[in-house]
Amino acid sequence: MTGPLSRTRTHVLICAGTGCVACGAFALKEALEKEIARRGLGGEILVAATGCNGFCESGPIVMVQPEGIFYQRLKVEDVPFLVEEHLIKGRPVRKFMYVPPAGESPVPRIADIGFFKHQRLIVLRNRGRIDPERIEEYIAFEGYEGLGKALTGLTPDGIIAEVKAAGLRGRGGAGFPTGLKWDFCRAEAASPKYLICNGDEGDPGAFMDRSVLEADPHAVIEGMVIGARAVGAERGFVYIRDEYPLAVRRMEIAIRQARDYGLLGKDILGSGFDFDLEVVRGAGAFVSGEETALIASIEGRRAFPRQRPPYPSRHGLWGKPTVINNVETWANIPSIIRRGAAWFSGLGTAKSKGTKVFSLVGKIANTGLVEVPMGISLREIVFDIGGGIPGGRAFKAVQIGGPSGGCLPAGLLDLPVDYESLTQAGTIMGSGGMIVMDEDTCMVDIALYFLRFAQEESCGKCVPCRNGTREMADILARIVAGEGVDEDLARLENLAMTVRKASLCGLGQTAPNPVLSTLRYFRDEYLAHIRDRACPALVCKSLITFFIEPEKCVGCLLCKKECPVEAISGERKKVHVIDQAACIKCGACYRVCPPKIRAVTKATGKP
Ligand SMILES: Cc1cc2nc3c(=O)[nH]c(=O)nc-3n(C[C@H](O)[C@H](O)[C@H](O)COP(=O)(O)O)c2cc1C
Ligand code: SF4
Ligand code: SF4
Ligand code: FES
Repeated sequence: MTGPLSRTRTHVLICAGTGCVACGAFALKEALEKEIARRGLGGEILVAATGCNGFCESGPIVMVQPEGIFYQRLKVEDVPFLVEEHLIKGRPVRKFMYVPPAGESPVPRIADIGFFKHQRLIVLRNRGRIDPERIEEYIAFEGYEGLGKALTGLTPDGIIAEVKAAGLRGRGGAGFPTGLKWDFCRAEAASPKYLICNGDEGDPGAFMDRSVLEADPHAVIEGMVIGARAVGAERGFVYIRDEYPLAVRRMEIAIRQARDYGLLGKDILGSGFDFDLEVVRGAGAFVSGEETALIASIEGRRAFPRQRPPYPSRHGLWGKPTVINNVETWANIPSIIRRGAAWFSGLGTAKSKGTKVFSLVGKIANTGLVEVPMGISLREIVFDIGGGIPGGRAFKAVQIGGPSGGCLPAGLLDLPVDYESLTQAGTIMGSGGMIVMDEDTCMVDIALYFLRFAQEESCGKCVPCRNGTREMADILARIVAGEGVDEDLARLENLAMTVRKASLCGLGQTAPNPVLSTLRYFRDEYLAHIRDRACPALVCKSLITFFIEPEKCVGCLLCKKECPVEAISGERKKVHVIDQAACIKCGACYRVCPPKIRAVTKATGKP
């Protein structure tokens, strides 16, 4: 780091991403600053805020540099002890460190924590090390060097050739080659031309783009200025969903700072080239992330998709040639130009180059944001980085690609994560949502969840999507209610094919994927619901029964007190009984029966 930062012996870096802020990062920062000042260490120790480290569930996170000591879940009351022990006496505090899921001893250094050490950072290279609200820190870590090279050492065609040679593909879902898209736009005669950064991120459970925008907004700006130079655009828009206020704020600060430094606006770096950016707040619907709908939204119209072609590179914003790329796609550009296409294409597989950011969530020990080289196996992501499944449960499936993606079973854990392998397996890379499921997950229920999401988010413009997703959801709802029939599976498959082929936009075209992939890999589970009226994962309420095992019950009264409909009878120290006719299957008894006793059990299937 530069400036005042380099004069201090120790840097205490506090994660100020949304997750850590929600866990009290700002209060912690204030407490640390006060305590450090009180102990007269203000001139020696610098306290600074950074963007998200990706390990949000462990927040608030603090890192002490240069040693790279990683602390998690710190509270304001821990501050005096931490300052005394570590910052004054030089003894890192074990009780605040990360302990791996297997319950071994704490791991002091971030570089040794499984969650971090298997990752490869390009897009997230500045996470946890710079203050995103200070352009000087971005510049100190080679920021805007790529732009310098693009303006002085490369022609616009040369920039496009470099991006093509790198093999970068769009990270927003479809994986279209970025250089080719830029080439199409550059070739158009019409002007002006526009650029858009797609930061709508409507997938449930996804937060990759939010994190990049919050942690390193200048990477996106630099990527867009390089892109503007390549295609000949003068104006660009960063479309960020309105539910991301911190990302909006940081991007606005970064744009102002870049203008002040002559990196945006008129005559950038004295090159005679003009380009400026503004933030647009997103409409908040999943479909508004679809490129033609997003363009309509920027134009001030309702976010409705339209037929393509013409594609935005020919007929985009206000009918002019427009390049629209995802946040992560733009954030890759500075490193590609700075380090060269050969370096980037050396990472990954034959057709999928570079890295991919995933939000790893669900039934997994280490949830968070991870960046991994393309071609890594699902097993490495789930077990080496994610730390496996908590509570001794077994891995069952991983859902990739959000509502447009599919579920892959344990048998495919060694599948390499690249565009082609995932598509062949029945899912998509998507924008990077990765939800891990354990043996307690019902795959029919999951398919219904995603289909309902698609149904609710369908804009309603075309019939196959509007009605087809509802039809499919109705069939699935019948199956989980124990009212399915064998023919339902063929009906689901037929409908899925129609919705996929006949829908106007990607929402409808991909909405059947969660159903088709679960039918492909978990057909037995569908059949169990239909033929045996059983939910093997013991999830679907209509197909399970709660009962009390008489030989285990000690008559503690806990379940009786908790039951909201008074369905449990029994006296102190006598066996309790559930009245099945009154039971509403809320599971309260199951949750309160002490773990050592476990007298309440779930059962499924015909008695
Ligand atoms: C329903 C729907 C939602 C989408 N949401 C997003 C999104 O939130 N972010 C995104 O970058 N792309 C999203 N896309 C893909 C965009 O239409 C477009 O392909 C992408 O922004 C292009 O950028 P890329 O080439 O860098 O991937 C969505 C597509 C569909 C069909
Ligand atoms: S496929 Fe669905 S979301 Fe897309 S235009 Fe048709 S109705 Fe709207
Ligand atoms: S909570 Fe468990 S042990 Fe206690 S009365 Fe209910 S079933 Fe019996
Ligand atoms: S917000 Fe702190 S690790 Fe993500």
